[in-house]
Amino acid sequence: MIQLRHLLATADLDRASAVEVLDTAATMAATQARQIKKLPPLRGRTVVNLFFEDSTRTRISFETAAKRLSADVINFSPKGSSVSKGESLKDTVLTLGAMGTDAIVVRHAASGAPHRIAHSGWTNAAVVNAGDGTHEHPTQALLDAYTIRHHLAGGTGDLAGLSVVIVGDVLHSRVARSNVRLLETLGANVTLVAPPTLLPVGVETWPCAVSYDLDQAIDQIKPDALMMLRVQHERMSAAGGGYFPSPAEYQREYGLDVPRLGRLADAAIVLHPGPMNRGLEITSAAADGVRSVIVEQVANGVAVRMAVLYLALTGKEER
Ligand code: ASP
Ligand code: CP
Repeated sequence: MIQLRHLLATADLDRASAVEVLDTAATMAATQARQIKKLPPLRGRTVVNLFFEDSTRTRISFETAAKRLSADVINFSPKGSSVSKGESLKDTVLTLGAMGTDAIVVRHAASGAPHRIAHSGWTNAAVVNAGDGTHEHPTQALLDAYTIRHHLAGGTGDLAGLSVVIVGDVLHSRVARSNVRLLETLGANVTLVAPPTLLPVGVETWPCAVSYDLDQAIDQIKPDALMMLRVQHERMSAAGGGYFPSPAEYQREYGLDVPRLGRLADAAIVLHPGPMNRGLEITSAAADGVRSVIVEQVANGVAVRMAVLYLALTGKEER
């Protein structure tokens, strides 16, 4: 069994370890179908959720995952803390460490903050990145891969040969960055589709194809999985930020609507990391339709985060 020292980026995982995380998540998921969902392995361990940016799914599912494994959970948010008095990230981490912390799950607006916490000598805790700036969101990519594997690869092994199209605001998306790397590691073929203004400089060096045309991508690639990304208004300067002419035009060119849904292959699935802008990148008909696995993604997030915490916090001997 692998032991994860930290999980900061999907590049931390080679194919065998990524498959092992997914397999461990499948074992965890099986236990969650039982009436009594709580397991003992993290009894006596403390997990701190250090969330400097807002979150619904990730924060609650890490909390649920840690509690299901019997860990003690401390939720920290800057609002109401001494961060408002100017306390630094270093002093916040040192303070939490002084109270005995085994794992720190961190979300931060600054790309690289989890890396800094993990490698600064401020803590011995395992650090799990729950989303840093526009950089990475590795457990999101793992739960996406888990969901794709469950539906399209029989729930085992890797994703060799599957095609995944990721659509939308790639520029601001840590979900896209983590997914491109992990899906490629797992053997899938990935294509990014976005307006040129919402693609980052250097995207041509990423291990994926790039297109500006969603209709062409749907018809030519015939994706097994279509992942819609949220337009991240909060990371754009003004409304729309000049990244696209208008919401209506974005919806027309890059939104998933019923006609586009109808041209997908019969077995194709639709993913979205959430939260959704219904009516912009995805219509309600697509979000709530039979191909949508968006609610399943959230459920799978608990099993994947149980697996990550378990692999990070239990040593070989203990297992
Ligand atoms: N919830 C995801 C994230 O925090 C995706 C998004 O917000 O659009 O990266
Ligand atoms: N997918 C995701 O990270 O959602 P939250 O921002 O609500 O945690």
